[in-house]
Amino acid sequence: MKRVFSGIQPTGNIHIGNYLGALKQFVELQDEDECVYCIVDLHAITVPKDPKELRENIRSVAALYLAVGIDPEKSIVFVQSDVSGHAELSWILTCSSYTGELSRMTQFKQKSREKESAPTGLFMYPVLMASDILLYDTNIVPVGDDQKQHIELTRDLAVRINGKYGEGTLVVPEGKYMKSGARIMALDDPTSKMSKSAENEYSRISLMDTPNKIKKAIMRATTDSDGEIRYDVENKPGVSNLLSIYSAFSGIPVEKLEETYRGSGYGDFKKDLVEVVMEAVTPIQQKYRDVMESGELDTILKEGAEKADAIAEKTLRRVKERFGLGR
Ligand code: AQP
Repeated sequence: MKRVFSGIQPTGNIHIGNYLGALKQFVELQDEDECVYCIVDLHAITVPKDPKELRENIRSVAALYLAVGIDPEKSIVFVQSDVSGHAELSWILTCSSYTGELSRMTQFKQKSREKESAPTGLFMYPVLMASDILLYDTNIVPVGDDQKQHIELTRDLAVRINGKYGEGTLVVPEGKYMKSGARIMALDDPTSKMSKSAENEYSRISLMDTPNKIKKAIMRATTDSDGEIRYDVENKPGVSNLLSIYSAFSGIPVEKLEETYRGSGYGDFKKDLVEVVMEAVTPIQQKYRDVMESGELDTILKEGAEKADAIAEKTLRRVKERFGLGR
């Protein structure tokens, strides 16, 4: 059995990109592998957050994990800051990382752009992410395409440390990316990825959006003027993005959709897409409300943290021993 680890930041507005790129895989993997799923709240404070809002978002992401089908009987579900090993291993890895490689991270460059001095947490984010993964002797990391560079850094750190402190100090993980849905683009600008923090709320569809908001977001999504429903990312990024979303939710291959909608207008295609998205999110929203009302969230997260901590402790003991830390 392989160990799977992944996480999502509790930064609000979990969207269909997070779902199709990451969460959907989380659910699929739990029947075959030993899965550890985390709400990565320590990552969320790399950019200052309102404490009350952050706490609410942590609970909301946890409830969404369960609502999309993550089963706490099969998978470990917990909050990152409940297991102190993440921060501890992060320091150990920091001492094996270089400012040069961290400066090359695209996400850091994007998020610190136009800032005179970037927050250190933003700079160190990939090292904390590496710690999250390596702490659990993870084999597989299901994530969206945008995380490829961070996964590569995690692998580099593990190989570097194994080279210096002995093979088996850390398990070298592999990223797992969805064939469709690995990179969902913003609806208002299909050249940038759909994101929780984008200012325009119509740039994304959040899993908890109302039918009206979903309809508006899709109907006003950017397309082009040639009126042809065809997958061509370079020349038709907007239509291609909508085809990817349709395909990922319905399971119908893009080529089949192109055939079905040959000769149709964008309006009809978009109307059908609204239906497809609604059909997928409605049961998730219902289950979310059930979880929130059930009162079982705290017990699940507490038990999850205990199980996660037991695995983390073992890894930390091994790493500290190899590094010569402690008495
Ligand atoms: N647009 C996307 N398409 C496919 N997958 C995506 N993911 C994020 N955006 C897309 C995947 O979702 C998981 C959780 O992401 P995260 O919350 O840890 O951080 P993020 O990648 O920074 O997500 P956002 O939505 O862009 O959040 P903000 O705006 O807060 O930075 C990851 O597996 C990610 O690949």
